[in-house]
Formats: sequence, structure tokens, C-alpha cells
Amino acid sequence: MINNTFLNMIEKELIHKVILISKSPYDPIVAKNIPKDWKCLGTGNYAAVFSHKSNPNAVVKVYGRSFEALEKEANVYTQLGIHPAFSNLLYKGQNYLVLKRLDGITLYDAIAKGIKIPESVIVDIDQALTFARSQGLNPYDVHGKNVMMKDGRGYVVDISDFYKEGQDEKWDDLVKAYYKIYKKTLYKIPVKIPYKFLDFVRYSYRKFKKIKWKVEL
Ligand SMILES: Nc1ncnc2c1ncn2[C@@H]1O[C@H](COP(=O)(O)OP(=O)(O)O)[C@@H](O)[C@H]1O
Ligand SMILES: [Mg+2]
Repeated sequence: MINNTFLNMIEKELIHKVILISKSPYDPIVAKNIPKDWKCLGTGNYAAVFSHKSNPNAVVKVYGRSFEALEKEANVYTQLGIHPAFSNLLYKGQNYLVLKRLDGITLYDAIAKGIKIPESVIVDIDQALTFARSQGLNPYDVHGKNVMMKDGRGYVVDISDFYKEGQDEKWDDLVKAYYKIYKKTLYKIPVKIPYKFLDFVRYSYRKFKKIKWKVEL
């Protein structure tokens, strides 16, 4: 699936040229100097993810920091095995992973763009997380930017923190918000929600959780 020509292109073009800037561990990576024919599909706190038009079924996740995290993500994919709601690992490089491409948009982008999120997406993701648990993993850091949807099906795009211990409530809170708020409002009348507002909600949520956590301690 991954041939030497593609690996050469990754190492000699993409990795060689791209510049990844990580301002702080809490800010998404910023990718600059992206070589021709490569496209940045998204960024997270660890990495930027790229595709090349010659290989539409694969993405290259280039780590900007924390290379131990790359090893851990590769191990999580091995432990997970193959499941239709997840990507899978095609190749592991020194500072990048080649993963199966998942099509569609993140739920975060769906809200921003006013695209309706059907309930089947939530159910699929819930079932995928149950599968991950059955493989001995701990679904961690599952939030709107780490899950995607396409044609009414749900996918989990980022499992890099599934090795962590402890309880992460982001997905449970998202499901609650889906049934209690979303289904009664945006589901009925989808309108675009500005990214600025979504980022404010995201920021407030994290801050609120932190305060709650401290109080509970
Ligand atoms: N397999 C994939 N197929 C398509 N897009 C992807 C894939 N993996 C990641 N992405 C895109 O790149 C973004 C960042 O990737 P992610 O794995 O979440 O990085 P991080 O571990 O740094 O949070 C995602 O939100 C998604 O938009
Ligand atoms: Mg992510």
C-alpha cells in the first residue's frame, strides 16, 4: 500500500520542507512552508496532518513535538486492530506516521458550517469507543475535533491518547450536550456558528472542568 516512491516523497519533500510551529502545548501546531501538491488537512496539539494528491487514501501525520507520543500512538493502533470507525497505521517513520485517510468533516467543523449531525453518527462513535475498550484501551480526549462524520456514519480520527489512564469526560459531555441542547435547537434549524464562538465555548468548557476538578479534589 505504501510504496517507496511515496515514502521518498514524504521524506524528501514534505518532512524536508515543512515547518511546524508549536507555540505552547495547549495551542494547535501551525504548519508553514507546505510543499506543492501537499495539503494540510488539519492540526492538533501534537501534529499536523497532510495528504498528497497521488495517494488519496493515506495521510501523513507529522509530529511537531513529543516523539514519545508518536511511539505511543503507533502502539495504540497495534493494540486496537482493524475497525471501520477508526483509521489504521500504514507506516511508522521517525517523526511521522502514515495512516489510512478518513473522509468527511469533524463534528466541530459541522457545527461551524451549519451541517446537521445525525444521531447515527453519535451511535457509531459510541460503539467504536466500546470496541476500543474491549481491546483494553481507554478512550481519552475524544472531542469534536477528534471525531468525524460522513454520509451519516461516525469515525474517530485521533486515538493518540487512548493509552492514558483516568477518566476523560469530554465525549460523555458531548453526548449529553447533543441530546439536551443540539437536538432541540441546531438539529431542527441548522445555522452556522462562528469559530470564534465555538473556541470560546471550548475554552470555557476546559476552564470550567479544571475548576470543577480542583474543587472535587
Ligand atoms: N486519518 C485521518 N484522515 C483524515 N483527516 C485526519 C486524519 N487524522 C487526522 N486528520 C485531521 O487532522 C487533524 C489533526 O489530527 P490529530 O490526529 O487530531 O492530531 P493531534 O494528535 O495533534 O491532535 C484532525 O482534527 C483531522 O482534521
Ligand atoms: Mg487531535
